Formats: sequence, structure tokens, C-alpha cells
Amino acid sequence: HSLPVYNATWASLDTRPIPTWYDDAKLGIFIHWGVFSVPSFGHSPAWGWYYWKISKSPAWQDYMAKNFKPKFSYADFAKDFSTEFFNPDDWADLFAGGINIHTLLSSSHHEGYCNYPTNVSSWNWNSRDVGPHRDLVGELAHSIKNRTSMHFGLYHSLYEWFNPLYLEDKENKFQTNRFVAEKTLPELYELVKAYEPELIWSDGQWEAPSWYWNSTVFLQWLYNESPVKSTVVTNDRWGSDTLCKHGGFLTCNDRYNPKTHVPDKKWENAMTLNKGSWSWRRDTDISQFLTTMEMLSTFIETISCGGNMLMNVGPTKEGTISPIFGVSYFGAWLSINGEAVYGSKPFRIVVDPMNANVRYTTQTSSSSVLPDGLTIYAFVMDWPADGILLLNAPMNATSTATITMLGMENVPIQFTSLQPTGIAIEMPLVPISKLPHHLIWVLRLVGFQ
Ligand SMILES: *[C@@H]1O[C@H](CO)[C@@H](O)[C@H](O)[C@H]1NC(C)=O
Ligand SMILES: *[C@@H]1O[C@H](CO)[C@@H](O)[C@H](O)[C@H]1NC(C)=O
Ligand SMILES: *[C@@H]1O[C@H](CO)[C@@H](O)[C@H](O)[C@H]1NC(C)=O
Repeated sequence: HSLPVYNATWASLDTRPIPTWYDDAKLGIFIHWGVFSVPSFGHSPAWGWYYWKISKSPAWQDYMAKNFKPKFSYADFAKDFSTEFFNPDDWADLFAGGINIHTLLSSSHHEGYCNYPTNVSSWNWNSRDVGPHRDLVGELAHSIKNRTSMHFGLYHSLYEWFNPLYLEDKENKFQTNRFVAEKTLPELYELVKAYEPELIWSDGQWEAPSWYWNSTVFLQWLYNESPVKSTVVTNDRWGSDTLCKHGGFLTCNDRYNPKTHVPDKKWENAMTLNKGSWSWRRDTDISQFLTTMEMLSTFIETISCGGNMLMNVGPTKEGTISPIFGVSYFGAWLSINGEAVYGSKPFRIVVDPMNANVRYTTQTSSSSVLPDGLTIYAFVMDWPADGILLLNAPMNATSTATITMLGMENVPIQFTSLQPTGIAIEMPLVPISKLPHHLIWVLRLVGFQ
């Protein structure tokens, strides 16, 4: 069969359905790794070069003055991007064990350094020529594709703070586009051809409109002709006119989380497990990290409103991922509750009107005896003190209605109907050590509407 053909306009590109694997996935890993992982200190280290040379933050002026000789340049950090402990198989296994469905690595961030052997630029600002002397993107892509069933994606920044070609175009008020013609676009085509990413998470779009970036021309090629045309997914960061509007799924702002409604278009909550930083900080402590409860409740807020969560981790310059990120905990929780997560759809009500601690998802099951075949999942964030959970959203129990807790199917759960609508559920009386896990229990409601 032949795929629809898109032209290079947002009106046409926006009609492309997002490949279904992405909506089904719900959870992905985001990895911010680059030369910024070397200095790796202070507020948002991925912006370190900018803080040092553009915004001239006192913290950076002070750090550089105290620790480095006056002639030290930002590029001098690159030789210490050592990656000696980077084992791509271990990363792939860690993320797959957290039951993530896709993994996204930064190919190049706003500092412009490429984590792969680019052939677009003859300058040595890439991981083959300085630092790791390895193809970090290629190695991780290979491990993920070979060892796991995860989808592999790439983050890519359109702009670069200090590239002379970009500065020249900017000086010309973006009426010239040498940077796009000679750097950005060739890099995007090169990445797609070399690594066949199934997700392209574009960024760094905000200073210039999409006609300057020629994004629609690239996306037209990506959707019509590229080797990943039928499975690739993209986001909405393709020009100063596109955020929250055009492209693939919506990211709107970082940590976007509408919480109480389902947006019209597929969306994503790109968030960090370290509250303030996308990349690793050496000067970190445990208070900067989301607790397991915060991680899980953000995830459930997100999926109950039809979103995907993209959880960010920042590896060290040596190539390790600190256990403090808690990625593995997700695996333990999802191995019990995945049925309520993967492939789910929002329920007609996001948060229970009578109980703000309960959120919903649904699955359509062909084996259900009900006409609409809907299984409802209630995520219980807080165990009721008196053991009775009052819900208003699932109404009208049928005579065959049942309620079970995921991971504890052998314990029947009693309930009674409330008037005029709603149900009162008796939470099972079991010792805490016999519960499937200790945070956020999921009830499976069959036979309710
Ligand atoms: C750059 O060219 C070399 C030599 O042809 C090739 O091995 C490498 O894969 C190319 N890099 C990319 C990203 O295509
Ligand atoms: C995948 O990995 C296995 C061992 O881990 C290796 O034997 C095999 O050649 C790899 N396959 C590909 C396509 O690289
Ligand atoms: C943008 O795309 C148009 C149409 O294909 C092309 O004529 C133009 O040269 C492209 N500009 C850049 C910077 O690639």
C-alpha cells in the first residue's frame, strides 16, 4: 500500500496521524549528555557555556576564576568528556527494565557538540575527534535495537549559541540562512540516514520562525521518503511559530502537565527526575530529586489526561547513571500495573469528582461481556483511612460487575452502589507486607459505566 503524501506546509503536515506505538508507549527516557556533563555544576549545567559567556552568571564567573587558568576556554572541557564507564548494553537493559518504551539521547545540544561522528562540519566539535573518541549515538542505538524492544529516538537542537554561521544569520535578522543550509538541515538528514531514529525531539527553535529553519521541508522528506517514514514521531519545536501548535505531539512548555483535562491533540510531559536540572550535577543532593511518590503521581496525572511522560536522566561524564534517579523503581511498579498503563485511553472523567486522590484510565477489551467492553482502572493515590473508598465517576454497576486490585487478583473486593450514582469500595484487609507494592494501588473495574 502507499502512504499519504504530505507537502511542505503545516496545514498538510499537521494532518499526519501520529504512529500508534507512541500513544501506546506512555513512558520514555530522555538523556541529556554532552560536554556540559564535564563542568556539571550549579543551576542547569547544560546551559553552562551560556551562563559563563552570555548571561555572565556570578556563579559561573566565580567557578571559572577559582578553578581554571585565565586562558581556559569552554572547548577545553571536551577532552575530559571521558565516557570510560559507558556501556550501552547496560543503559539499554536499565531503561528496558524500567519498562520504558522509548529512549531518546541528545545528539547535540545548544553548545553544538555532536555525540556522534558527524561529517557535516569539519570542525572537531564531536565525540569522534575530541573526548570519548566513540560514536555514543551509534553505540546506544545499536544496543537498544539489538537487546530490547524499545524504540530509539534522538534529541536535536536546531540552534547553537556560538556557531559563527548562526551568529551571522542572526545578525542579518534571519534573512540569510547559511547556518540552516550548511549545518542544521544536513545534520538532521545525516542523523536520520545513519541511525534511523523513530522519534525526533527537536528543540532550540525559539529565536527564529519555521521558514528560517526550513522545518516543513525536512518534515515533508521525513514523512514521505525517509527510511523511518511510517514509524517516526516528532514534536512541536520546529520554529518560533510552532510550539504547542504544529508538528507532531505537543510539548508546549517543559514539564507541561494540564492535570485536569484531556487536550485535543496528543501531548507529552517532558520532565526531569532532578527537579531543576536536565543534566548531571556533581554538586547535587537527594533533596533535588523527585521522590518515588512524586515520580509516580506525575506519571499518573499525565496518562490520565492522555499524555506521555518523558523522564529525563543526566549521566556523568564517565558514562554512569546514578541509581539516585530511581529508574528501576518504575519497572517494579509497571510490571504489576502495566495493564492499566500501556495502550490505555483516558476515561471520560480524569479525576474522581468525589475523591481527588483517584484518577482513571481505560482499556477496551474485546473479551468483555459488556456492550462497550470498557475496563476502567482507578489509580488510588491514598489509602482511605477508614478502608472505604468512595467513587463517583464509575456509575451504574451491572449485575456481573467486579472489582480487583492489580497484583492481588485472588482477593475479592466488595462494593455497594451509592444513590443516585457512585460506589463505595471496601479496600481489602490484608497485611501491608502482602500488598503488591507500597505506593499507588490500581483497581480494575469491570462491568461499570
Ligand atoms: C561519516 O563518514 C564516515 C566515513 O564514511 C562513516 O563511517 C560515518 O558513519 C559517517 N557518519 C555519519 C553520522 O553518517
Ligand atoms: C546482537 O547482540 C548479540 C550478542 O549480544 C550479537 O551476537 C549479535 O551479533 C548482535 N546483533 C546485531 C544485529 O548486531
Ligand atoms: C529550503 O527549502 C527550499 C525548498 O525546497 C529550498 O529552495 C531552500 O534552498 C531551502 N533552504 C535551505 C536553507 O535549505
